[in-house]
Amino acid sequence: MRRKLVCGNWKMNGNLVSNAALLAGIKAGLEPSNCEVAVCVPAVYIPQCQSTLTGSTLGWGAQDISAHTAGAYTGEMSVSMLRDFSCKYVILGHSERRAYHGESDALVALKMQRVLQFGLTPIVCVGESLAERESEQTKAVVSAQMEILLAAIDAADLAKVVIAYEPVWAIGTGKTATPEMAQGVHAIVRAKLAHKNGELAQAVRILYGGSMKPDNARELLAMPDIDGGLVGGAALNSADFLAIVHSA
Ligand code: PGA
Repeated sequence: MRRKLVCGNWKMNGNLVSNAALLAGIKAGLEPSNCEVAVCVPAVYIPQCQSTLTGSTLGWGAQDISAHTAGAYTGEMSVSMLRDFSCKYVILGHSERRAYHGESDALVALKMQRVLQFGLTPIVCVGESLAERESEQTKAVVSAQMEILLAAIDAADLAKVVIAYEPVWAIGTGKTATPEMAQGVHAIVRAKLAHKNGELAQAVRILYGGSMKPDNARELLAMPDIDGGLVGGAALNSADFLAIVHSA
């Protein structure tokens, strides 16, 4: 049985005061459950998460990381730095990073290796654009993304990775993949994982992301290969985020 994971992706939102209220609201409403819950926040607020959340069941992490371990990389941040602040998760290859910062599949795969090397959990995003979906290339696009990732990983490490399927056309748009559409792609991802190792593929969590909200989460999370959510907009409101956690 895969343990569900609901992870908030705050993107570039928040400030010290609003974060304090949001984190307190989530903490207060979290009930003991088998669902893993986390927030990935702007890097400067990671210490705030550490001081607010240590000892709670709410985990925290970053939204990106350098592929390098240390050195002359101005503006970058290493995985070992995240580990200093007890981060557990790093989102990688989000479509916004791919689109606005030119991140390639190859770079995302390198970052994944680095995150695994330092013992954190990579949440690696894959997904097709609207044009790709409309031209029926979803399977080809997602399969190609998965193949590059899988070529970069030892089979034994497979279960340490979390994949997030995020159709680009559903992110922040209010358009959600139907549960059946999402399940179809999740099954493709699982089949790709199974090529690497059939048994461990069953242990990999595959999250759905893209306008997941309290009113569609339950149906999405009921699908056999949807093991949680990567939640953007709805993660900025504690009641909405908790409602999604509840569904999981
Ligand atoms: P959204 O974002 O929930 O606001 O669509 C999801 C994401 O980008 O991870």
